[in-house]
Amino acid sequence: MPSTPTPSRYNPLMMLLHWAMALGLAVAFGMGLYMVDIPGITPFKLKLFNWHKWLGVSLFALLMIRILVRAGSTLPSYPASWAGRLMVLVKSGHWALYAMMLITPVLGYLYSLAAGYPVVWFGVIELPVIIHKDPALKEVFEELHELSAWGLVILVAGHVLMAVKHEWMDNTRILGKMIPGLRVDKQ
Ligand code: HEM
Repeated sequence: MPSTPTPSRYNPLMMLLHWAMALGLAVAFGMGLYMVDIPGITPFKLKLFNWHKWLGVSLFALLMIRILVRAGSTLPSYPASWAGRLMVLVKSGHWALYAMMLITPVLGYLYSLAAGYPVVWFGVIELPVIIHKDPALKEVFEELHELSAWGLVILVAGHVLMAVKHEWMDNTRILGKMIPGLRVDKQ
């Protein structure tokens, strides 16, 4: 049987999931920073906390879909000149992004449960209460959720810088693999 030719770009569903999640993560992060600085407890603050949690659960669900879609997709190749250490770095970077996209909402979920607030997705679906209210654990998960969110932001900044460096400084057209309509180098 003839093998499927390697595409030069990610497929449209992978692109859609990449950009939907990039946007969602940016909104969740901005919202997180903004809401914790609102003084006291106001109805608006509580609303933002709920939206932040619902968005986090939605991003987790999208990540599960993305992992399945990725497993069923033929992925584009890399330039032959990228063998060795650079490829190890590129792949580790992508896996680290996946790991942080997984860990960050899970830590937020555990933080909410330890604080004594079950998560009811869009006010409709109550997610399992796997740990009970525990003020000491709440402190731990609060810290870890914040750390992992910042870790994800730093990784994303590195990812964007690398993509831009390859595109404009090394003259390797790579953005087109993820952005429809842009030119992409034949590999
Ligand atoms: C302006 C923002 C962004 C740009 C310009 C960008 C660009 C790209 C490009 C060009 C690729 C394909 C690279 C390749 O195949 O080597 C890619 C892949 C990827 N991006 Fe981004 N990206 C951005 C934001 C994000 C964000 C926010 C995340 C997640 C937190 C993310 C996670 C990933 C992952 C995991 C892959 C690998 C896809 C796979 O092989 O499954 N990206 N990105």
